Amino acid sequence: MDSIISSSYAVHFNEYGFVALNKHLAEANYSKIFILVDENTHNDCLAPFMAEINGNHLYEIIEIESGEINKNIATCTQIWEILSELDADRKSVMINVGGGVITDLGGFVASTFKRGIDFINVPTSLLAMVDASVGGKTGVDLGSLKNQIGVINQPIMVLVASDFLQTLNDRQLQSGFAEMLKHGLINDAAYWEELKVLNSFQDLDALIYHSVVIKNDVVLKDPTEQNIRKILNYGHTLGHAVESYFLESEAHELLLHGEAIAIGMILEAYLSYKLTNLPKSDLEDIKTTFLSKYPKVAFTNKDIEEILKLLKFDKKNSHGNIFFVLLKNIGETVIDVKVNEELLKESFAYYKD
Ligand SMILES: NC(=O)c1ccc[n+]([C@@H]2O[C@H](COP(=O)([O-])OP(=O)(O)OC[C@H]3O[C@@H](n4cnc5c(N)ncnc54)[C@H](O)[C@@H]3O)[C@@H](O)[C@H]2O)c1
Ligand SMILES: [Zn+2]
Repeated sequence: MDSIISSSYAVHFNEYGFVALNKHLAEANYSKIFILVDENTHNDCLAPFMAEINGNHLYEIIEIESGEINKNIATCTQIWEILSELDADRKSVMINVGGGVITDLGGFVASTFKRGIDFINVPTSLLAMVDASVGGKTGVDLGSLKNQIGVINQPIMVLVASDFLQTLNDRQLQSGFAEMLKHGLINDAAYWEELKVLNSFQDLDALIYHSVVIKNDVVLKDPTEQNIRKILNYGHTLGHAVESYFLESEAHELLLHGEAIAIGMILEAYLSYKLTNLPKSDLEDIKTTFLSKYPKVAFTNKDIEEILKLLKFDKKNSHGNIFFVLLKNIGETVIDVKVNEELLKESFAYYKD
């Protein structure tokens, strides 16, 4: 487990990552290094990160407020202005040290500043390690609508160091774990079996590596999401709508990304049972597994109506139709399945049951 080669870059693990990063920084001759953090990764991750960096580089630390609520264009504007004030030029680099919000937003800011400067992802949450930091999707939310603004642009490298997880709380670990369960559901039934009985987040290295392999293989086959890459969106069509609804609705507590897509994966398993012959036993296995790990949300009929309205913003839509990635079996998917509204409501009834 040292590195995984992607299109134009590599994902390096643990000590190999710091070796690769130091080598790159020594060779690249950047004019300045900008390190993007939020207040939590500033406190918990920045010092251990800096302790691994050799050489005399010029640094600036840019801190933003944590949370999905700040993954927006206003935050980007603040950062672009800081970059400009601090004389960032096209030979500057941005190192994103944080969770998926930092890697998505930092990647977007770097990709658009002066038509694009280099960026490096150093994911510090489980979710960012196994999913968000790899694959080149960068961007921000528009209001509460998830990831509506963004570009696909690859980092220079990704450095996955699992030691950062020591300061991440259980709720956040569990949220990231949802994307790993997704990797099993869409690609690898044995991996699903292994993960679903896991009840400790110690020693995740081999599993993190396995998830990055799955994600990277899919992305390499279809970097711009014309076909096969869509499978990574399993659970996300309804999951994003649920996440957006909770983001905008003050009556509800915030749901984490992984918690929302865990719900989405149950709902979309029901659609799969109805439309793509997912066996009933698999459907029940999926529901039981997610409900044993994630809080069950009590949706009212009004909530469901509002969530379904948000579906029209899904990026997989075209010509007014909403398309889903569904499961044929655990480990096997079908893309571009059209679903009618009645069945969507039924899926919520199944979730609530
Ligand atoms: N680009 C992609 O392909 C992709 C894939 C999946 C998810 N995402 C995006 O990722 C985001 C979710 O990522 P996330 O769950 O990492 O969110 P996040 O960045 O908000 O991190 C979660 C929380 O953990 C804190 N944190 C991060 N690392 C820490 C550490 N080591 N110790 C202590 N606290 C730490 C953060 O400050 C934050 O409060 C969503 O916006 C989602 O849309 C993107
Ligand atoms: Zn996700």
